Amino acid sequence: MKITVLGSGGWGTALALLLTDNGHDVTLWSHSARRSALLEQARENPRLPGVPLPEALHLSAALDSLRESGAVVMATPSFAVRETARMAAPLLRQDAVVVSVAKGIEKDTALCLTQIIEEELKGKGRVVALSGPSHAEEVGRRVPTGCVAASRDMAAAELVQDVFMSPRFRVYTNSDVLGVELGAALKNVLALCCGVSDGMGLGDNTKALLMTRGMTEMARLGVALGGRKETFAGLSGMGDLIVTCTSMHSRNRRCGILVGQGKSVEEAMKEVGATVEGYYAALSAHQLAEKAGVEMPICECAYRVLYEGHSVREVVGALMSRNKKREVDESWI
Ligand SMILES: NC(=O)c1ccc[n+]([C@@H]2O[C@H](COP(=O)([O-])OP(=O)(O)OC[C@H]3O[C@@H](n4cnc5c(N)ncnc54)[C@H](O)[C@@H]3O)[C@@H](O)[C@H]2O)c1
Repeated sequence: MKITVLGSGGWGTALALLLTDNGHDVTLWSHSARRSALLEQARENPRLPGVPLPEALHLSAALDSLRESGAVVMATPSFAVRETARMAAPLLRQDAVVVSVAKGIEKDTALCLTQIIEEELKGKGRVVALSGPSHAEEVGRRVPTGCVAASRDMAAAELVQDVFMSPRFRVYTNSDVLGVELGAALKNVLALCCGVSDGMGLGDNTKALLMTRGMTEMARLGVALGGRKETFAGLSGMGDLIVTCTSMHSRNRRCGILVGQGKSVEEAMKEVGATVEGYYAALSAHQLAEKAGVEMPICECAYRVLYEGHSVREVVGALMSRNKKREVDESWI
């Protein structure tokens, strides 16, 4: 199949390699001619050092390949998804499968990325979210990985399963696209929190507490908005939460570590040097929790530190001295 991957960061490149390995005819699009030329010159992405780009993989800064592509992978950072979908729309085949692989929630609208893509494509294409515990660095090295393809259109999700599946990359399907996308976006907030905890020198107990109760928060919001609770125990929920909160590959966690060590949020984001999706997702979580009327105390603390200038020590103290609770809140099960 002819496939265009829109976005040549670490994740777009790793997926372009996977799809080329799977025998597809792949074009990797960069949003600037300069970036595409640099990739062409090096035949390597600096985000995936030591992983050569095979000759069979086409590199381009033009969108022409979209006209013939049966599948299009949207792999830009979340803030660029709307403008990229808008640019792609006129060239897209009516029957193309559009695979959303970025993780985030739109800042002002609080929409998930497949919703933005559907808005911009105005009835063209069949949109699927592909998500899960999948560091680009590891997929680039062909490390065994599993993801979930989610869509209300199960035939489209199954097509994505067929196209991406390989002996190194398992793909499951799920019809709960909202649950999958919320898990993918919100775990970045919790990865920031776990990073802060590590940066402050707190312990494994603290991190496990943050991850477990953070998972409960994600699921509570997801269920209130129409997602399924079980989805949050799956690859895009618990799976992605584990990988992001425990790995140094996670830029969200690295950003949190710097904040926990005393750097300002601005300094930390600058030092990480790549998109810290959790920063934006913390604002969206705050807005969505307010709208849905659900409690998300850990995400709310992240919001207070990132957007309201509260100190991390202050919010840790506030979290630990909340009222007594039951572990299982039967009202939302
Ligand atoms: N890196 C991973 O391991 C990984 C895994 C799964 C999902 N994701 C998600 O994929 C998305 C992309 O992440 P990444 O790691 O590839 O990012 P990255 O930081 O490696 O690269 C981002 C790319 O986007 C380009 N870009 C910047 N502004 C743009 C614009 N306005 N329009 C189009 N492109 C623009 C940059 O030039 C760069 O090539 C994120 O939402 C991330 O959460 C990443």
